[in-house]
Amino acid sequence: MKLFIDTANVTDIRKANELGVICGVTTNPSLIAKEGLVFEEVIKEISSIVDGPISAEVITLEASKMVEEGTTLAQIHPNIVIKIPMCEEGLKATKQLTEKGIKTNVTLIFSVQQALLAARAGATYVSPFIGRLDDIGFNGMSLIEDTAEIFEIHGISTEIIAASVRHPIHVLEAAKAGAHIATIPYSVITQMINHPLTSSGIEKFLADWQGLQSKISK
Ligand code: E4P
Repeated sequence: MKLFIDTANVTDIRKANELGVICGVTTNPSLIAKEGLVFEEVIKEISSIVDGPISAEVITLEASKMVEEGTTLAQIHPNIVIKIPMCEEGLKATKQLTEKGIKTNVTLIFSVQQALLAARAGATYVSPFIGRLDDIGFNGMSLIEDTAEIFEIHGISTEIIAASVRHPIHVLEAAKAGAHIATIPYSVITQMINHPLTSSGIEKFLADWQGLQSKISK
């Protein structure tokens, strides 16, 4: 399973990219708003940092406008993927953008049926939201499992991005469930790196080494 970072924060994107663990970025209008920056400029900057798919979401709800917006965004960089919300107009826009050779990521997927429709409309990626389903008492991970199983049975090449990831267990379970990608916040990457036994192990190795140095120098 590949890892993308889910943020519009350029500092976090740079840090994650330097770690060498991510190969793409997803953004959404809320994440862009949180940074308080100009949309096109942030997307351009992100594209200059990460050499991989960068999802930029349209903010119109009419197919023709989504296509227009998506076509303009796609001109920013060849790696731009147009993020389209799951709805009737979104499916039409997905089909049209796909016909124009523009990659799409259909977002706000909460059922396998929605994922299947998006795939059939030509989506390059679908983004089922795990955390938001968990939040309302549903099992977010079974959506990933079922989508992966159905795509496999029917030879569907659309990639599944496990989205709305809240903690490292989501990442582990998404990988086991067959997601192709998990898009995760920087805080989750940090949680995945750290382990108390690793920290105490490093401390002990260094303390033992220092002990040896002082014995030798006596
Ligand atoms: C995915 O592409 C979305 O940007 C994101 O994962 C949404 O996550 P949230 O539910 O934490 O807002």
